[in-house]
Formats: sequence, structure tokens, C-alpha cells
Amino acid sequence: MDAITLLKEDHKEVKRLFREFEKLGERAVKAKQEIATHVIEALSVHSAIEEQIFYPSVRKLVPDLNEAVLEALEEHHVAKWLLAELEDMTPEHERFDAKMKVLTESVRHHVEEEEGELFPEVREALGRKALAEIGEQMEQARRVAPTRPHPKAPDEPPGNLVAGPAAAVVDRARELGREVIDRARG
Ligand SMILES: [Fe+2]
Ligand SMILES: [Fe+2]
Repeated sequence: MDAITLLKEDHKEVKRLFREFEKLGERAVKAKQEIATHVIEALSVHSAIEEQIFYPSVRKLVPDLNEAVLEALEEHHVAKWLLAELEDMTPEHERFDAKMKVLTESVRHHVEEEEGELFPEVREALGRKALAEIGEQMEQARRVAPTRPHPKAPDEPPGNLVAGPAAAVVDRARELGREVIDRARG
């Protein structure tokens, strides 16, 4: 799939989750938890593939967009801290909804900048072939991308190309453990 189409599909899914969350009533604790878990996973994977593949390709192939990419990396960084905090919090916590709201607002802003400014310029600068190749690389990276936020981990190559897949193994093992516990609890 074309790189930009792939990233936009991810955005659509996350925006859908945000809307679902906003529709929930104050006390829908279980649903809130489920959506937050999905958001954490979707955004962790999405930011990893952008940071490992998309952003470095853009910086290399379209140097004019360097500043835009650096800003995007900072926005990812802030979002990862919020995700890490949300992960350690249950919906009963007084700060949970507010944190989710700030996350939603900042991710929506970030997505608007990517789709409104970054992507159109990337599409114009790169040919269809390059975009297809970058998309292919991201599909591969997705399979070994971390599923949890790692705000202190490197977010640029080469560091994230090593730390990312290593973290993913731990993340996925942890998820598996959680599923086993959930099943045992019924
Ligand atoms: Fe991004
Ligand atoms: Fe994105």
C-alpha cells in the first residue's frame, strides 16, 4: 500500500476510537478501559512505523520538510508520555478523562498537520514508486513494532531500529500474559 494511504488509514482508526470514547457515559468504566487500551496500542505502533521508516525517508528525500518532521517528533514524544501515564491509570482515576481529552486534542492537531501540510508535500515530492516502497517497508515494520509507548526510548534511526523490535517482543509477551490472566478471571 502507498505510504500515505497506509498512514491515513491508521489515523482514521484512531479518530474513530476517540469518537467512540467521547460518546461514552461518565461511568462506562469497562468500555473506557477497552478503548484506551486500543488507542495506546494503535498509537504506539503507528508512531513507531512513522519514526522508523516514514520520517527518516522524508528527511532524506525531501530536506525542505526537515523542520516539519522535527516538530512531528516532538509531538509524538509528548503523546507517548500521555500514553504511558494512561497505561498506568484506570478510568476510575480522577485524571483519566482529562488526560484522554488532552491526548485526543493533541493527536487530532498532529494528524491535521500531517494530512494537511506534510503528506501533500511528500506526495508531490516523491513519486508513486517511492511511496509504494516506503509503504511496503512500513507494513513490514508494523509486524515487529512496539505495542506500548516508550517515551524514553530513541525515536530516530539507528537507535529506534534496534530498540523498537526488541521492545516489541517484551510488549507482546506482556500482552499475552495479560490475556491469559483475563481469561483465567473469566
Ligand atoms: Fe505522526
Ligand atoms: Fe501519523
